Amino acid sequence: MPSRWIHERKNEHYHQKAKEEGYRSRASYKLIQIHNKFKVFDDAKYVLDLGAAPGGWLQVAAEKIEDGGLVLGVDLQKIKPLWADNVITIEGDVRDQAVQAEVMEYFDGKADVIMSDMAPDIIGQWEVDQYRQIHLARIALKIADKLLKRTGWFIVKVFQGGEHVKYVQELKDMFEYVRNYKPPASRKQSAERYIIARNLKKNRKLPREFKAEEEQEEDEGPLPGDQLFQDPGY
Ligand SMILES: C[S@@+](CC[C@H](N)C(=O)[O-])C[C@H]1O[C@@H](n2cnc3c(N)ncnc32)[C@H](O)[C@@H]1O
Repeated sequence: MPSRWIHERKNEHYHQKAKEEGYRSRASYKLIQIHNKFKVFDDAKYVLDLGAAPGGWLQVAAEKIEDGGLVLGVDLQKIKPLWADNVITIEGDVRDQAVQAEVMEYFDGKADVIMSDMAPDIIGQWEVDQYRQIHLARIALKIADKLLKRTGWFIVKVFQGGEHVKYVQELKDMFEYVRNYKPPASRKQSAERYIIARNLKKNRKLPREFKAEEEQEEDEGPLPGDQLFQDPGY
C-alpha cells in the first residue's frame, strides 16, 4: 500500500474526527496527544494560547483546566466566540508590545501553561518561512520568561531547519527539561515539531535577540546588526 495514501487517509481521519467531535480544527488532536504524553494540563488553572485561531487548542485547554481557571487566546485573526465561560480571546499581534502588556494584565506572572502554535503565512521560500516561524517562537519564549510559573509548561511549534537547532539550545538555556515531540496527528511530511519544556531555570538567560531589542529600546538608536532582528514584515 503506498505510504502517501496511508498519510492522506490519516489526515482525512483527523479532519473527520474533528468534525464529528465538535473541534474547530484537527490541530486539537495534536494538543490532546501532547497532553496524553506529557500531562501538561494536570493541576493547570491558567493557560495562555498564542496563535489560537480558529480555536481548536482553546477548546482542548478549556476542557482540561481546573474549575475557576482561565484560558486566554491571542491571534491576528478574530476568533469566533467559544461560548465557554473560562475562555477569553484577544485579536492582536503577539509581536506588538501593547498586546503583550494586555496579556500580562490577565496573568500577573501566574500561567501554568504557555503554548504557541504560531506560524506565519507561508511564502514558499523555506529559509524565510523558517526564520519567521522561529522569530514567533522566540517571542513566545520571551513572554514565557515573564509570565510562566517556575514549574509551568511551555509548548511551542517549530519548523525544523538551521535556526531551529539554535532555538532548541536557547530553550535549554532557559528550562531544565526540554523534549522534542511529533504528535501522530501532525502530518508526517510537514517540517513542524513541538518542543515541550518545563521548569524555568533560576539563572536563565534570554536569547541574544532580546538583549539587542532591549538595548535598542533604551538607546533609541540602532545597534550594529539590528536589521537582522527587525520585524520581518509579515
Ligand atoms: C496553525 S494556526 C493555530 C491553530 C490553533 N492552535 C488551533 O488549534 O486552532 C497558527 C496561527 O498563528 C497565528 N499567528 C501568526 N502570527 C501571529 C502573530 N504575530 N500574532 C498572533 N497570532 C499569529 C495565525 O493567525 C494562525 O491563526
